Amino acid sequence: MVNKGDHVHMFEPYYTQYINHIEFAGADCVTSPMYTNDKGEWFFDFDHFEKSLDENSKLLIITNPHNPSGKIFTEDEIARLSAILDKWPQVTVLSDEVYFHLPFDGRKLVSFANYSESNWKKTVNVFSAGKMLNCTGWKIGWAIGPKDLIHQAFFVHEASVFCPNVPGQYALSKSLEQAFTQPYEGYKNYFAFVQSVFQAGRDACQELLSYSQNIKFKPTVVESGYFMPVDISGCEEHIPEKYFLKNVNYEDDEKTLVKQMQFPDNFERVPLDFALCRYLAVEKGVSCMPVSNFCLHESKTPLHNYIRIAICRPPDQFLNPSMIEKFKTL
Ligand SMILES: Cc1ncc(COP(=O)(O)O)c(C=O)c1O
Repeated sequence: MVNKGDHVHMFEPYYTQYINHIEFAGADCVTSPMYTNDKGEWFFDFDHFEKSLDENSKLLIITNPHNPSGKIFTEDEIARLSAILDKWPQVTVLSDEVYFHLPFDGRKLVSFANYSESNWKKTVNVFSAGKMLNCTGWKIGWAIGPKDLIHQAFFVHEASVFCPNVPGQYALSKSLEQAFTQPYEGYKNYFAFVQSVFQAGRDACQELLSYSQNIKFKPTVVESGYFMPVDISGCEEHIPEKYFLKNVNYEDDEKTLVKQMQFPDNFERVPLDFALCRYLAVEKGVSCMPVSNFCLHESKTPLHNYIRIAICRPPDQFLNPSMIEKFKTL
């Protein structure tokens, strides 16, 4: 799909694995920001994206529903993106829809490829069994798209994984139809069940965060997926100073698995989101992800004020006495 010197566009924050694929192909990554408003809703900076396109642009990677923000593209946003890309016909779209089965609060997903005939012709859609069936790690997925684009996937597949785990493929082929058609735990199907568990996980996690005494966690609006970004602006004074020190082994416990992250020279201190995540992991046993980890080091809008929490678990894993006690100490 891309060669050395081609530009691959993404909105930032992006799912981190894309960077490795872009580097592997020798292409260059060009990002456009996402931002939130005061209600915590996420937006894409389409003006920036439009201005960043040129004759070197070859691929746009979108994630819908998006990781880490949990945003679903609205129909207007898909329309805007389609109109922009119609002006640059050499740009292919890779639409990562691994969370397509998880829209919350009755939302509907508009897939970029389904929006128009011209979108379909330029799009490869990717899906993951691991995500759909809550078994991340199976590493089985599939791609759907027009023949000329899908054809390229065969070469990559043979040169990378070569052959996936065949028993897993059989298991998937047997369960996929059932997951759509059979009632599950009182729900219309397995996906309706998972949606309701994760949505309840999101709501329970929001409640848990409200128990914190000092740190003001402000959850953003999560429309889908496994994760919830949370605005942590202003929490510096509640994190011990040692978590802000760069290139220092700060861990008190030798057995801790939390490793030092190497930051570039122009970072004087550990950014706020990393500092909070280290503090939560080391002292509270709570593991979150710094959202600037989903941005380029040289990003102009690195989202250091957000952490990402996994909500893909039943509500009682958030709202239980031990977790509530922990959060009361924050
Ligand atoms: C947006 C996105 N795409 C792809 C994947 C990879 O899924 P898999 O577990 O099937 O490798 C993930 C996993 O977290 C993801 O968040």
